[in-house]
Amino acid sequence: MKGKSVLVTGGGRGIGFAICKAIAQMGGNIAVLDSLPKPVDEFDQLESRYGVKTSFTQADVTKQSSLEAGFKLAVDNVGPFQGCVPAAGIAVDKPFLEQTWDEATGVLNVNVLGTFWTAKLMTAHMQQHGQGGSIVLIASIAGQGIKVPEQNLAIYNMSKAAVKGLVGPLAVEVGHSGIRVNSVSPGVIMSPMTEGMKVEYPHLLSMFENAAPLKRIGVPEDLTPLITYLLSDASSFTTGADILVSGGIHAGISPSWLSQKS
Ligand SMILES: NC(=O)c1ccc[n+]([C@@H]2O[C@H](COP(=O)([O-])OP(=O)(O)OC[C@H]3O[C@@H](n4cnc5c(N)ncnc54)[C@H](O)[C@@H]3O)[C@@H](O)[C@H]2O)c1
Repeated sequence: MKGKSVLVTGGGRGIGFAICKAIAQMGGNIAVLDSLPKPVDEFDQLESRYGVKTSFTQADVTKQSSLEAGFKLAVDNVGPFQGCVPAAGIAVDKPFLEQTWDEATGVLNVNVLGTFWTAKLMTAHMQQHGQGGSIVLIASIAGQGIKVPEQNLAIYNMSKAAVKGLVGPLAVEVGHSGIRVNSVSPGVIMSPMTEGMKVEYPHLLSMFENAAPLKRIGVPEDLTPLITYLLSDASSFTTGADILVSGGIHAGISPSWLSQKS
């Protein structure tokens, strides 16, 4: 990642921050846009520890003026960018019939349109600089058209399917300018977003842990090697792909878990 600069939305904590840290560890500069007022404390140490440039700007990816102003500041501080990871996301866990108009709209605004407009700003920026680049979207196992019993994520499921749905068309449209577009679909990853499951759904967490072929829940660092690979020139012939990182649970249930249950 040396010499590259990457914009990460939602990089103030959780998976987004882990992505920032991995890029910095490999020598890349990072700019974060996040609705949080400030990032996790460790963010401030990245510059001195890894000798890279960093910038954090509070911005809301659902508001055009906020996103555009944040993007401009990020370009001024760390640009031009060769990489982009729109990772800002939210989830609502509620039965389908209880979902409210505002909650559903909120999820679509952040996860789908926030991703869409960030990718659009970045595509225009990369084309203007004429060096190509790599955009890595964050989809999810939740966007693959399956429902886990007890987890009620209908609007989140729909939003992540939409994110995955952008990858192919965008990859084809911008490939001629050397811009690659891929997505990563994580399984359950421990982060501030999923932390509440420990209290609300401990049995569900235990199911994910034991039923997964690799027998554990993921951590953000399970995703970062793939994301830095997709951002780097090592993946220069990869575009239009969605790659699942789920401990194998998308492929099936561990036979040992099934035999325990019977
Ligand atoms: N944790 C998981 O199990 C999991 C699995 C699959 C996909 N994902 C996806 O990974 C991404 C990161 O999730 P996470 O688990 O780290 O969650 P998280 O809640 O820890 O982080 C999400 C970040 O997005 C930011 N954000 C939210 N709304 C925003 C807005 N309007 N504008 C700007 N920033 C905003 C938050 O402030 C936060 O820093 C999300 O897109 C999520 O859907 C997570």
